[in-house]
Amino acid sequence: MSHLCLVTDIKDGQAKAYPHPSASEDRDIIIVRQGLNVYGYINRCPHAGTNLNWQEDEFMTDDEQFMMCFTHGALFEPNTGKCVAGPCAGAHLSEVKLEVENGKVFYAG
Ligand code: FES
Repeated sequence: MSHLCLVTDIKDGQAKAYPHPSASEDRDIIIVRQGLNVYGYINRCPHAGTNLNWQEDEFMTDDEQFMMCFTHGALFEPNTGKCVAGPCAGAHLSEVKLEVENGKVFYAG
């Protein structure tokens, strides 16, 4: 398993992008932290396929309730990747399985 980061590298309620360990995936992995839990998604919006962020590691709404695609404003649940508002409502971000051991986050497929 590839080590990606520490849980504590990401501020609680925020998200960061890390290079995908697979050579066949050119998009980053977004890792969202909620307390001690982390969730991983490919940084590709299901609407038009852009990166979600417009600036480095700018993924969250101001209230940290949702991840937002800055291209057309789709909102995603951090713990499911489901789009709950915007042009791709009902679609999902592509999930990346992560495992946490001793505070370290690993890519698990
Ligand atoms: S590309 Fe993300 S909302 Fe359109």
